[in-house]
Amino acid sequence: MSDAIVIEEVSKRYRLGASAPADTLREAITRFVRARLPGRRPAPEMPSAVARDRREIWALRDVSFSVARGEVVGLIGRNGAGKSTMLKILAHIIEPTSGRARIRGRCASLLEIGTGFHPDLTGRENVYLSGAILGMRRREIDRKFDEIVAFSEIERFLDTPVKHYSSGMYVRLAFAVAAHLETEILLVDEVLAVGDAAFQRKCLGAMSPGANKGRTVLFVSHNMDAIRSRCGQVHCFDRGQLVFSGPAAEGVDYYLKTSDLPAPVTAISLADNPAAQCEGLRLLDITLRNPAHPAVGPCTGDPLSIWLRYRSTRAFASPGFSFAISDMRGIELIRLTTLPISGFPIEGLHPAGAVELFLDELPLVAGPYALSFAFVRVNVAVVFALPNVLQFEVAPSDVYKSGFKPDQSRGRIVVRHHWSHAPEADPI
Ligand SMILES: Nc1ncnc2c1ncn2[C@@H]1O[C@H](COP(=O)(O)OP(=O)(O)OP(=O)(O)O)[C@@H](O)[C@H]1O
Ligand SMILES: [Mg+2]
Repeated sequence: MSDAIVIEEVSKRYRLGASAPADTLREAITRFVRARLPGRRPAPEMPSAVARDRREIWALRDVSFSVARGEVVGLIGRNGAGKSTMLKILAHIIEPTSGRARIRGRCASLLEIGTGFHPDLTGRENVYLSGAILGMRRREIDRKFDEIVAFSEIERFLDTPVKHYSSGMYVRLAFAVAAHLETEILLVDEVLAVGDAAFQRKCLGAMSPGANKGRTVLFVSHNMDAIRSRCGQVHCFDRGQLVFSGPAAEGVDYYLKTSDLPAPVTAISLADNPAAQCEGLRLLDITLRNPAHPAVGPCTGDPLSIWLRYRSTRAFASPGFSFAISDMRGIELIRLTTLPISGFPIEGLHPAGAVELFLDELPLVAGPYALSFAFVRVNVAVVFALPNVLQFEVAPSDVYKSGFKPDQSRGRIVVRHHWSHAPEADPI
């Protein structure tokens, strides 16, 4: 069986700072046009010390692997390991610094929000454009159109330019297009994380070996259960290098055992994070506090305050702040929101404000967890999402007053409970 994807000694170097070269055609064009706008002065020369400080980062180093036709393969690894860079090279969004990446077959990719569709065209027009780019005839696309619309569940917005879509709507349409057009290879980055849980399940189902019609899939995720259940093989990256290739279950175990997790924290600044702002809302920071034992931090059975500061130029109707806590396998354990269905609606945002989610008793056993954030609006799905934005550690506690401090070797959740025991009154 011939290989659908062949990666040969691929390396990618990024230069940080002043004179980073243009990575994408879109960036290069934007730079070219901006430089020629009337009234725009040329950028001042960088001071020589800064110009010399061209720090380099190797996002990928000497990576080689191949993917057989029809295989569903996972790429895993910590934040910054090089997974998205690998997919972008395969999708020809960026060029490798050295090495070769070859792809044989018609390929659709779902990478970052904003790549793929043309912002000024409507959803409908983008479906046809995507099909045309893949070399499909209009009649072929017509035949698939209803399936695509039904899968995406955004029929009402089909004639709206996609630049007005929320990221959740964008991903819905992009996934529907990628999954239903006649492609042989599908590259999927973590974009699915911005969809709601039901849509994520639907997408994962469509990528499963039974449903994907022999398509080759390369799939990046931090959700180890999704990787284990969907993928035959995985490749695990660590700081740009391929450190494991093999069967999915072994790869997931390897990753969970060997990846040194980032140091847990109880606060994170988001002021410089471009992913933490959208539609006039800008997040400043998120802080976790244990008001009962401030020095201990999050602790089983203690209260936990999750405090988020923001600035906003818009009030938004029924703004939905949503926090989710997952374990390190990516399994979501708690998700709470301020959408009206939650019983805690928020009326509107302030120019400078803060929201607090207060858990009376943190029901998680000791161990590492990840906090995710999403900003959601009624009927508009997710506006923006920050998956795994902060990783924190829950401290052990004698929560049952028995001297035993539950940890992740025994489930994840503690609940108030009791046992009883008595002789049976009428044994048969
Ligand atoms: N355009 C860029 N300019 C400079 N450095 C970059 C650029 N894009 C990525 N990097 C760096 O390259 C490295 C690999 O990034 P990449 O996005 O591939 O990681 P990833 O495995 O997808 O991480 P995550 O799980 O957080 O999505 C990181 O150190 C990142 O900071
Ligand atoms: Mg990535």
